Amino acid sequence: MSDDVLSQFTPPVREKAVDTSRILNFAVIGTGWIAESYAECIKQLPDIRIAAAADLIPGKAEAFFKRYGIEGVRLYPNHKALLDAEKDLDAVCVCTYNTQHAVCAIDALNKGINVILEKPMTVTLDEAADIVRAEKKSGKILSIGFQPRMDENMKMIKKIVDSGELGKVYYIQTGGGRRRGIPNSTFIEKKTAGIGALGDIGCYSLDLVLNAIGYPKPLTVSGYKSAYFGPNPKYNNPADAARFDVDDFAAAFIRLEGGIIVDFRIAWAMNIDTPGDTIILGTEAGLRIPSTDCWNGSFSGPMKIYREVAGAQVDFTVPLLPSPGSFGGLFLRKVRSFADAIKTGGEAPIPSRQILYNQAILDGIVKSAELGREIEIKLPQV
Ligand SMILES: NC(=O)c1ccc[n+]([C@@H]2O[C@H](COP(=O)([O-])OP(=O)(O)OC[C@H]3O[C@@H](n4cnc5c(N)ncnc54)[C@H](O)[C@@H]3O)[C@@H](O)[C@H]2O)c1
Repeated sequence: MSDDVLSQFTPPVREKAVDTSRILNFAVIGTGWIAESYAECIKQLPDIRIAAAADLIPGKAEAFFKRYGIEGVRLYPNHKALLDAEKDLDAVCVCTYNTQHAVCAIDALNKGINVILEKPMTVTLDEAADIVRAEKKSGKILSIGFQPRMDENMKMIKKIVDSGELGKVYYIQTGGGRRRGIPNSTFIEKKTAGIGALGDIGCYSLDLVLNAIGYPKPLTVSGYKSAYFGPNPKYNNPADAARFDVDDFAAAFIRLEGGIIVDFRIAWAMNIDTPGDTIILGTEAGLRIPSTDCWNGSFSGPMKIYREVAGAQVDFTVPLLPSPGSFGGLFLRKVRSFADAIKTGGEAPIPSRQILYNQAILDGIVKSAELGREIEIKLPQV
């Protein structure tokens, strides 16, 4: 059959028309690297305007908006000055390094402003709980920046689990990492990042599987973390090695409610090409996800399902769906879905009640690693 004939049966993909009758006023807090993705996206969204921005580094925000050709943005020396002066904001994008996430998100929510907060939610579980309390008090929308969630293949993992095809899920292996891929800038110091590979890419690996299985409560964790590469001038440039004081590798064995085990590892650098695919084992079938680059919202190949049919061991491939790419398409969907939630009064696309558990695990890994033993995860009242 020719493509012409086939295309008659393929429904055309239509982007929903954007309602421009209400323009949303956004502010950007922190005009560093990730703020660039917000600026790029917002330029493409006709119903959002960047009204204000702040950065601690003098002149940085000004240069940022000049570079993007965005005019008329009111600029402030820090988030507090911005929140005190601005009276008509619909939302803030918290694009600061991790150790400033909590104070910026809480201050914005306390002013009654919706927040899209970059990942990881925070550094510690206590900070995350404080944000959720401020969110609840404010009645505003708080969404956390996990754009890989917007990828159709990622959504397919959840659809497969929800379909019951796997039976009862009991064991998950997740996490990947890079053979060599240590970032620099503010990612590698405790005073700015708080945590290293764990917070940068580990949170994505956890979200990939926890979202699929409905974010069960984490119960206990036995965690490990190390830094054999980042501070070593053999593997990192000497200036960055000298200031590196976070983890570059972490591993954990996590018990979740419902008798589910998560075996997790993440690396910015390691002496192996990959620590393996993500696998989800169920009583009826198993799922293999070649996802060691999950922070990009992409897979290196199609997923595979392994099961038994009429006594025979069979496996089949789940076709890989096209992905629009992380910083273009998926990021745009993340910002669009947040703006839509504001306009419709809908739920946060990536809600804090889920990501609180993600943060509880990261926090548990750090605490357990420092104590050198398994610990119980105590979820705070929020
Ligand atoms: N979603 C993604 O794909 C993705 C990718 C990269 C980074 N991130 C996350 O984005 C966040 C920022 O990363 P980055 O690489 O852009 O960092 P960055 O260091 O390049 O930029 C952060 C900026 O925030 C400013 N800042 C800090 N506290 C402030 C405050 N109170 N008020 C105003 N400005 C303040 C700093 O001066 C700095 O310029 C991190 O949490 C990181 O994990 C997300």
